[in-house]
Amino acid sequence: MNFDTILNRRDSDCLKYGVLQERWGRTDLLPLWVADMDFATPDFILQTLRQRFDHPVLGYTSQHPDWRPSIIEWQKKHHDYQVQPNELIFIPGIVRGIAFALQTFTAPGDKVMVFAPVYHPFFLVTEHNGREVVRHPLVLTEENRYELDFNLLREQLKSVKVLVLSNPHNPGGRVWSAEELRQIAHLCHESGTLVISDEIHADLTFHPYHHTPFATVSKEAREGSITFGSPSKAFNCPGIISSYSIIHNDLIRRKFRAYLSASELNEGNMFAQLTTVSAYRLGEEWLGEVKAYIADNIRFVEQYLSENIPQIKPMHPEASYLIYLNCRALELTHEALLDLFIDKAHLALDDGQKFGPEGTGFMRLNVATPRSILEQALHQLKNALSSM
Ligand SMILES: Cc1ncc(COP(=O)(O)O)c(C=O)c1O
Repeated sequence: MNFDTILNRRDSDCLKYGVLQERWGRTDLLPLWVADMDFATPDFILQTLRQRFDHPVLGYTSQHPDWRPSIIEWQKKHHDYQVQPNELIFIPGIVRGIAFALQTFTAPGDKVMVFAPVYHPFFLVTEHNGREVVRHPLVLTEENRYELDFNLLREQLKSVKVLVLSNPHNPGGRVWSAEELRQIAHLCHESGTLVISDEIHADLTFHPYHHTPFATVSKEAREGSITFGSPSKAFNCPGIISSYSIIHNDLIRRKFRAYLSASELNEGNMFAQLTTVSAYRLGEEWLGEVKAYIADNIRFVEQYLSENIPQIKPMHPEASYLIYLNCRALELTHEALLDLFIDKAHLALDDGQKFGPEGTGFMRLNVATPRSILEQALHQLKNALSSM
């Protein structure tokens, strides 16, 4: 696979470019923000979709017979996670799935916890649904890594109905260890808190780290959680909108299924399940290649920054193609940091404040892009800084 190819995404209704003027105030920026890849979606997925178009009728579609088996085999083989067919329910997107779960399992005014900073829709969806956000502030260690404060967590959880967990963590790139997850599960069990474990980045975990599905760490975790998964990040097909929930607890599953099926939210369009089957049945080799390329990009960024802009310290992503850049040593105000990246370096990144006030002084860089684009972006940043 050649991931060095630069594809023109400008005329494809692509979010990454399409909202530059609206959100960044100018269009002459290199966009390295929203979490999709600038690489072509793998050919085996495109072929599968093309083949479907060879049939001239785009009529109503039934469930794909391989949808459940393909997810079950993938989870078992890649994450040693045993899932039963009846434990799987289709959901039309993970952010939507979180909203549906909050509507099913909480009432307006109930408290929902996030580990902050975090992927912003976690708290936006909570707020927009009239629930109260409780932020557990992640501890930034000397090693520039996020950790949990379990004493504080125990106190905070007492009044919390649902914890929305990014496992692995976006934007910090942490792969939570089995022991950390076990402790979270135990505290949530004590406080009667339901855990929603969003595992969308799981397949992008880098050696030597190892993704642990939350539900596998203990009986408490298995019985008190909903897991969300999708091939959309690892196989660069988020525009298709195909994801799933795994729920082991009968009561939780029945309630969630009833909520979804009341509005037929558990049914995807004809391409959704087809894409998941194609990714999980045909994607292993491609995934290995794209991960190797991304891992090289991460090394490239880390080396470039340490040699040229040592004031910016990247958090090493244990998973995902997102690097959270700690820019605090630049000692710039939020406005000056935005001015540096946008108006001086001509880059469109997600700024840390988007992920909550805990992210002040950080920027998130998406490295799922050809190396030459990254090189250009970092040169622009270096030149902008030296002109200040
Ligand atoms: C942690 C996390 N969850 C969910 C999503 C989006 O999922 P979906 O497009 O299925 O709503 C993202 C996308 O960046 C993400 O990083």
